[in-house]
Amino acid sequence: MTRINLLLLTVACIVLAAIVPVHSQRPRNVEQQVNALLAKMTLAEKLGQLQQLDGEATGNFRPELLELARKGLLGSTLNVRGAQRTNQLQRVAMTESRLKIPLLFGFDVIHGYRTIFPIPVGEAASWDPMLAERSAAVAAQEANNAGLRWTFAPMVDIARDPRWGRITEGAGEDPFLGAAFAAARVRGFQGSDYSAADKVLACAKHWVAYGAAEGGRDYNTTDLSENSLREIYFPPFKAAVDAGVGTFMSSFNAINGVPASANAFTLTKVLREEWKFDGFVVSDYTSVRELINHGVAANEEQAAAAALNAGVDMEMVSRSYNQFGPRLLEQRQLSVATIDEAVRRILRIKFRLGLFDRPYTDEAREPQSLLRPDSLSLARQIAARSMVLLKNDRGLLPLHKNLKSIAVIGPLADDRRAPLGWWAGDGREENTITPLAGIKAKVGANSKVGYAKGADLKDDSTAGFAEAVALAKESDVAVVFVGESADIVGEAASRSSLDLPGRQLDLVKAIQATGKPTVVVLVNGRPLTIGWIVDNVPSILESWMGGTQSGHAIADILFGDVNPAGKLPVTFPRAVGQVPIYYNYMNTGRPPEAENRYTSKYVDVPWTPLFPFGFGLSYTTFKISNLQLSAPRIRASEKLIVRVDVENAGKRAGDEVVQLYIRDPVATMTRPVKELKGFQRVTLAAGEKRRIEFTLTREHLSFWNREMRFVAEPGEFRVMVGSNSRDLTEAKFELTER
Ligand code: BGC
Repeated sequence: MTRINLLLLTVACIVLAAIVPVHSQRPRNVEQQVNALLAKMTLAEKLGQLQQLDGEATGNFRPELLELARKGLLGSTLNVRGAQRTNQLQRVAMTESRLKIPLLFGFDVIHGYRTIFPIPVGEAASWDPMLAERSAAVAAQEANNAGLRWTFAPMVDIARDPRWGRITEGAGEDPFLGAAFAAARVRGFQGSDYSAADKVLACAKHWVAYGAAEGGRDYNTTDLSENSLREIYFPPFKAAVDAGVGTFMSSFNAINGVPASANAFTLTKVLREEWKFDGFVVSDYTSVRELINHGVAANEEQAAAAALNAGVDMEMVSRSYNQFGPRLLEQRQLSVATIDEAVRRILRIKFRLGLFDRPYTDEAREPQSLLRPDSLSLARQIAARSMVLLKNDRGLLPLHKNLKSIAVIGPLADDRRAPLGWWAGDGREENTITPLAGIKAKVGANSKVGYAKGADLKDDSTAGFAEAVALAKESDVAVVFVGESADIVGEAASRSSLDLPGRQLDLVKAIQATGKPTVVVLVNGRPLTIGWIVDNVPSILESWMGGTQSGHAIADILFGDVNPAGKLPVTFPRAVGQVPIYYNYMNTGRPPEAENRYTSKYVDVPWTPLFPFGFGLSYTTFKISNLQLSAPRIRASEKLIVRVDVENAGKRAGDEVVQLYIRDPVATMTRPVKELKGFQRVTLAAGEKRRIEFTLTREHLSFWNREMRFVAEPGEFRVMVGSNSRDLTEAKFELTER
């Protein structure tokens, strides 16, 4: 080899080393370290690694927690946060325990740590996964500096039932959109190397089908075909695995009679054998012990055996593994190999995280890492890009900045808590910009901004109506903020009604009756049944729960500094009785027909949704036309290129989310009437026209057939492109062979 070649080789090696993530750089090294450590561990120390306990966020640590860390009988905590506190506990593990295995500090950093971003379902309404990647990256940076190394996120449950409060935590009802957001969030949290000082380990949860809880009642059971699991509920998890997610969380629910935290099919066959996942699985909070309530274990001992043997490696909060592990081993209900494998998976991740080399957090960096100006401006940008304009009939929006007077009304107009949503991380109300503050900051001295709360979020009092009505009457425009409080969305917050709670609708009616131009802004965590408002109020903005900066973002949209372009990631029903209602339904043998009674519909409400999946308006208008396919027929090994023109036909710049759906009209299984298979958010200047392109491959056309094989069946396919799942233009092609 010449010297030049040698030099080139050396340079190539250095470049390669720089771009290959650390955890894939030294796989053998990690395995050797894991095995060497494992060889030294006692059974108690091994079981200790499998234990995660809920720690204290403030105050003194329970003596027990310190003691367990000292004895090497604790693997991880949740909720202990802050650099100083995590260091304090870590120091005990690192200096006083026999083997000096670092603790792993986890926390629910779902949509931000201190800088809170929109609730995930809202962020998904941006249809811009890159934004989710960026918000997750900020969350990771803040969380890491606060001593955390692990977030229990992303939550990637598909949810078709808005009664379920946790619909707020995911990306909505669609597996394709859900998969895109799942991957983006994993990338944002973990980066290419989660041992980096501004990254955290991610956790895909809740594995699996938790979102299908019957009746929308949290923690309830599920009963689903394997096809539904594989086609609807699995894809975002698979996307998370492909993006390199380090951990999974097993869910609370049972699936077809087998609880998810004792389910060898999902935990081992699919996750380990099919998907080759080599990270670890943590149970959900006490879900191992809850196997007793499910009725698949008579006691904690049996629960421990069922969960560990099925593939749950770490137990959150309940202590069945630790208490009963030794006895189960003696009785051969558990094998050493099973315990060792669980420990190996956990240690592997701890090594990949670099925890052994960097167990502590620099306490000086924490304060300056939180609420950085660039984090706040990103939060504002994302919140605005997540909002969905549902109606703007008379062009009332955007508002002029020099209106003489604006009435800001409603229980959510100046509420600091609701915009933070459920799982607000370490978010603080004192940092929230409310809509009232955002509007005041926007108009400055140009307009007089009056405020009246009008009604409460919960009680039935109308005592505040008169003041609100009077304010509306004396103002040029009324903007009414109604919706949900944070405590009725999220976990353990299922609702049987999707109406606005309390007297909020009556408040809107009273303001509308004044005849003043009225805008309704929704602050909420799930689709709501707002038919009266849609029929009577000219302008409606869905702002979700937009996070720390939501008030500024709402003002940016209301006054036109940002042109809204969000699209619903979930269908809005007309009535709660329509639920579950989703766009990718099966046609049935009797699809709904207005004139034919004996078809699939309701007698008391139209069968169509209030707003379809993918819906959202803009201050400009777009035309989608000239749909063309690259070929009239293709083979499964070939690609189909779909091209379409999108034109901004209005007078201001804006974004359109162009959506591509397919339908396989005749197959060996019934197929959905539409399935999202592509989307692009494009920015166009006024009058600009652009040709955009999508690619369809075999994977997009395939489904799980009767033999549970993933196949693309020959025959006709329809391709539909448009601005939402209802308003579409269509073309056809043929798939000639598999
Ligand atoms: C939730 C999880 C969460 C865990 C820890 C559980 O109740 O279901 O999503 O990660 O608590 O806070």
